[in-house]
Amino acid sequence: MSFEKVGVVGLGTMGAGIAEVLARGGIATVGIEIDDEALARGRANVASSTGRAVKRGKLTEEGQAEILGRILFSTDFADLADCGLVIEAVPERLDLKGRVFAELDKVCGPDAVLATNTSSLSVTKIAATTTRPDAIVGVHFFNPAPVMRLVEVIFTERSRKDFVDAVTELVRSLGKTPVTIGDRAGFVANRLLFGYLGPAAHLLEQGRTAADIDASMTAIGLPMGPLTLMDLIGLDTCLEVLEAVHADSGDPRHAPAGLLRDLVAEGALGRKSGRGFYTYE
Ligand code: CAA
Repeated sequence: MSFEKVGVVGLGTMGAGIAEVLARGGIATVGIEIDDEALARGRANVASSTGRAVKRGKLTEEGQAEILGRILFSTDFADLADCGLVIEAVPERLDLKGRVFAELDKVCGPDAVLATNTSSLSVTKIAATTTRPDAIVGVHFFNPAPVMRLVEVIFTERSRKDFVDAVTELVRSLGKTPVTIGDRAGFVANRLLFGYLGPAAHLLEQGRTAADIDASMTAIGLPMGPLTLMDLIGLDTCLEVLEAVHADSGDPRHAPAGLLRDLVAEGALGRKSGRGFYTYE
């Protein structure tokens, strides 16, 4: 089983990054958004990320045009009809994801793999909302998707093994490092990473400065400090992951800081909203 055409539903930070990775890998990609405005934002996300590579001399303008040309941007689910794999990357609400999979059920062929990029919901629960639980696989990319090598491929008790194997192979062929694992809150990477990110927000709340917290960890050798990283991930996503992992682990390190909850409630979601732990232009 190989995938010549792959769909991505939802072109926010993660979906746009995933569409870029697929198109860079030479795969005909269909990017779906809910309306023209969201579609234009999704296209702009891919254009700006590839534009950054052009500026750095890592990609020619023709190369950028080729990548963008390989993505069909559409608001019509019917354009996904001949995709062997569709990756859902819409906001983390079970009802919303359920509606997406109901649409996919109508348009996709019987052998299509239906994947979710969820980071905080149970893949098993998402599968249970669909009429094809055996077709559901998790494909968890990391932010920024074009740069991060890790992709967790998540299987449930019901996932078809040939589907899981095919997705794992696709991820490898895209130059990423697949880690294929069972479904558990936080999977592996977020379970570990958020045991470190969660306490960073508590430290800030307890009076340490953001500059000291981040400088400590970059000086240790991490590529960015924990607060800068949470702003990159999105504070809403961080809160969702912490809540899911905390509910499963009961570990106080995973209990979201009140400050994190407050920022999310205020709409300070990190880089994407212009303000999080830090302020952005
Ligand atoms: N989109 C595309 N490319 C990007 C990018 C973006 N948003 N941000 C950076 N890049 C590229 C740059 O173009 C550059 O590419 P080249 O090396 O080919 O020139 C490269 O990444 C390095 O970028 P910079 O030199 O500008 O900056 P940097 O060296 O500080 O690296 C970084 C930036 C790659 C983001 C690095 O700081 C890093 O690795 N940070 C940690 C990120 C991380 O841990 N992500 C996982 C978060 S957890 C998650 O996502 C899971 C979840 O479910 C919440």
